[in-house]
Amino acid sequence: MAETKAPKMSKPRVFVTRRIPAAGLDRIEAQCEAEVWPEPLPPPRDVLLEKIAGCDGVVTLLTDRADAEFMNAAGPQLRVISNFAVGYNNIDIAEATRRTIWVGNTPDVLTDATADMAFALLIAAARRITEGQDYVRGNAWKTWEPLGHIGVDLLGRTIGIVGMGRIGYAMATRCRGGWGMQVLYCDTQPNEKAEQFLGAQRVEFDTLLAQSDFVSVHTDLNDTTIGMFDEAAFRKMKPTSVFVNTSRGPIHRHADLARALREHWIFAAGLDVTDPEPIPIDDPLVSMPNCVIAPHIASATISSRNGMAEIAADNLLAGLDRQPLRCWVNRPVEE
Ligand code: DGY
Repeated sequence: MAETKAPKMSKPRVFVTRRIPAAGLDRIEAQCEAEVWPEPLPPPRDVLLEKIAGCDGVVTLLTDRADAEFMNAAGPQLRVISNFAVGYNNIDIAEATRRTIWVGNTPDVLTDATADMAFALLIAAARRITEGQDYVRGNAWKTWEPLGHIGVDLLGRTIGIVGMGRIGYAMATRCRGGWGMQVLYCDTQPNEKAEQFLGAQRVEFDTLLAQSDFVSVHTDLNDTTIGMFDEAAFRKMKPTSVFVNTSRGPIHRHADLARALREHWIFAAGLDVTDPEPIPIDDPLVSMPNCVIAPHIASATISSRNGMAEIAADNLLAGLDRQPLRCWVNRPVEE
């Protein structure tokens, strides 16, 4: 009798816009007809639009803008965009939802790594660590200086958290538990856990600016937070204060921050995010001794990046199967 063969199911087509850790990529490559952009720099826009044509799913990075043009270029079969990041301001969520394209992100696994980086920037800026390193490397260190390199104290000071979500809470925990700081925060919602366990006090933005010794940004980038740290905000901060941003660059206005640092409205800043990224080398902030800048590396630890890859793969594969996403940004509202 002739053997009947089961019809061959074709694998879904996906494009992954950069190599991500094998913890997620291996499964994507095994289960999909996957093309992975191999270069260290992102695909140029025209190449990206070409590559995603006909794809059922795309793994994006925060450097890829997934807007209506992107979705048109992919075509109507596009079912899922899996963002390799917790932030998803690079994706037009309303447009994706309108087209029933499911969007996933990668929360939780990078919470501690990001809070660690925020604290590292805080202490580096407060204690002038990178400035000191430049001093050593520039062969300027001639003696121990009783009046040199004076920074600001941390113990018992006040931290102001803008956005008391998971990462804001983790940062506040470090500041409270390790350095006995008072915690102020502003958020659209009260955070009962922070109030109960950290004694955090929810205050108006202006109060937070005026009373905090350190201000750390942990809110997402949206229409209400873009440019919230502008000249007016920096002028309300203490001259001894330190500003930290590990969230998204457009939340602070670069030119205003540069002026605040140059004219000593604030003491120092620590940034893991800039606008644009990378920050142009001739941007005044780059050469300011009281500004510490890292190249958006808060989630760059082994467990965070592996965790992000696992979730990104889970989200992608679930979305291709039209199964609920593990971390679902635009989960349909139950009727
Ligand atoms: C994110 O996930 O949104 C970070 O900015 C990069 O890890």
